[in-house]
Amino acid sequence: PIPVVHTVAEMRAFVQARRAGGERIGLVPTMGALHTGHLSLVDEARRVAERVIVTIFVNPTQFGPNEDFTRYPRTLPADCEKLAGVAADLVFAPAVEEMYPSGFCTTVSLEGPAKAELEDHFRPTHFTGVATVVTKLLNQAQADVAVFGEKDYQQLLVIRALARDLDIATRIVGSETLRDPDGLAMSSRNVYLSAEERARAPALHRALSDAARRIAAGEVVGHVMGEAREAIVGAGFDIDYLEARHAETLARVARRHDGPIRLLAAARLGATRLIDNVAVPSE
Ligand code: PAJ
Repeated sequence: PIPVVHTVAEMRAFVQARRAGGERIGLVPTMGALHTGHLSLVDEARRVAERVIVTIFVNPTQFGPNEDFTRYPRTLPADCEKLAGVAADLVFAPAVEEMYPSGFCTTVSLEGPAKAELEDHFRPTHFTGVATVVTKLLNQAQADVAVFGEKDYQQLLVIRALARDLDIATRIVGSETLRDPDGLAMSSRNVYLSAEERARAPALHRALSDAARRIAAGEVVGHVMGEAREAIVGAGFDIDYLEARHAETLARVARRHDGPIRLLAAARLGATRLIDNVAVPSE
């Protein structure tokens, strides 16, 4: 079985011991309810680090007041089994009081990609919570690399910016989105979908990847995105946003030649909110 620690001090002791032995450390922050997508981040970390620490912490500060913090799936024993299966080396599963002891009063303040009017528009306190907990985890572990999924593309850019701006020495690595065979991006929240919703869900990725292909082929961005919107609504989604943005800055783009383009969407299917994004292949 994989060792599980609950305190920062124990995680640090592990890191120091391994580093003293000349090993590099990879960190994979998660909120648990692990699926194959998360496990692929462990594989990615292992490409550059001899030891991989997975953190499992359902971070209360990144959930809005009407979001799913209390009902977010918590499956620590099953998670540990999956992590043992991919030969991760340590699980760090702190209690809320370990991360936010009484008197906690500091957050990370964000601009740039955190203010892109994408996720931040619909979840106004979300990235402050993410950035604060990720800053803590990076400082706690002092790993050589930390791996984050492109699935949460805006989050990845926010974390890259904070690591750069706050001089965090851990290298931030992005890892591509794992999907079910029908294209649906794997997500811990997919368990909320009814069978009927699950059958419709792949329409989101299908619309994004069709749009990406057409934009790459030279079709007009605005026109293609309008048709993608129709396809997604036609499949029964309520769209929060569907946007073509600059892949590095998230600035709005109108033309294929405005820079590398990422298509990003969030849409609700019944009570479940799905997000996804794809790259527009470059010429
Ligand atoms: P969570 O949603 O558990 O995701 C943990 C990591 O797994 C994130 O880097 C996310 O982008 C990645 N991930 C999720 N689904 C994926 C998929 N289908 N393929 C590849 N990677 C995927 O994101 C968070 O947790 C939190 O915000 C966190 C960064 C841990 C801070 O609390």
